[in-house]
Amino acid sequence: MMLDVACAYRPSRLEFHDFGPDLGDFRQALIDGLSGPDKAIPCRFLYDARGSALFEKICKLPEYYPTRTELGILRAIAPHIAERLGQGVQMIELGGVSSLKARILLDALDEPNAYIPVDISRDHLRASAEALYAEKSGLSVLAVCADYTQPFELPTAPGSGPRMGFFPGSTIGNLRPDEAIAFLASWADRLGPGSVMVVGVDLRKDSAILEPAYDDAQGVTAAFSKNLLVRANRELGADFDPDAFSHRARYDAASGRIEIHLESLADQTAHIPGKDGGDVAIPLAQGERIHVEDSYKYSLEGFKTLARAAGFRPTAHWTDDNQLFSVHYLETASA
Ligand code: TRP
Repeated sequence: MMLDVACAYRPSRLEFHDFGPDLGDFRQALIDGLSGPDKAIPCRFLYDARGSALFEKICKLPEYYPTRTELGILRAIAPHIAERLGQGVQMIELGGVSSLKARILLDALDEPNAYIPVDISRDHLRASAEALYAEKSGLSVLAVCADYTQPFELPTAPGSGPRMGFFPGSTIGNLRPDEAIAFLASWADRLGPGSVMVVGVDLRKDSAILEPAYDDAQGVTAAFSKNLLVRANRELGADFDPDAFSHRARYDAASGRIEIHLESLADQTAHIPGKDGGDVAIPLAQGERIHVEDSYKYSLEGFKTLARAAGFRPTAHWTDDNQLFSVHYLETASA
């Protein structure tokens, strides 16, 4: 569906481009992930409606510093970014559903031309795109429902201002470094010469700060990772006992990553109904772990090296006073 609305003094558009992204088959992914000796559930299944609500709670936890720290940095640097980019920017936000961060930049930019949020979550994307369009006169909002790790055609915005990719939340850290390079390289290519990419990156630090951020006292993060099992029970008729698993978050300083697992608290067997009737049995030994997600942390130099390997020129970075979090300004080759 496409909606076109003209504004009296500066034409702007509201569009919804639906590429019909597909998470793939949860049942098959779960059976595949839990059948071998190295067990894992693909983290893309974390964010159903319940998972997304739990993640919003995580972002407000006292232990989870990344969200509020990044917001603080963005408020402080928005005028610098606006000055560097000039007029008529087209902002492409990857994972554009939590557009509070995007709003901080849009409010500071000089007559931005278009906001292009790309997200897999259709309903949430539509609602936030419509709200932003109603609020900001002159700004085209071209929402794209797609998986931003996969190729798709970016809509063309009116006007010819510079393109700015925006990838906040340290979501880049949920990719392995080799995947992060390939991902950034594909975006350098898609954004084209003379473009910019602004990326939020969590910094390496003491495990005493990192581990509680991924294993909070109230157990919200534990509920978030166990939601994979809750979801499997609800959607697929599996019989996981979420209480028979413990959420674990461990920082491995050598690789600079937080490793998140669900650990079986007993010898147990869970069952997942197969497609054609019979159950698939998943035996788990006490202490056996199911991998949920990794969250890589970088040093400032380490991330710049990664960005260079992807073909970007890292030309500025900012951190908070406590060096908890960083925002990087990466440029593609000049136009
Ligand atoms: N991008 C977030 C991060 O790495 C995702 C996240 C936060 C997460 N807490 C989590 C993923 C707990 C799995 C489990 O900080």
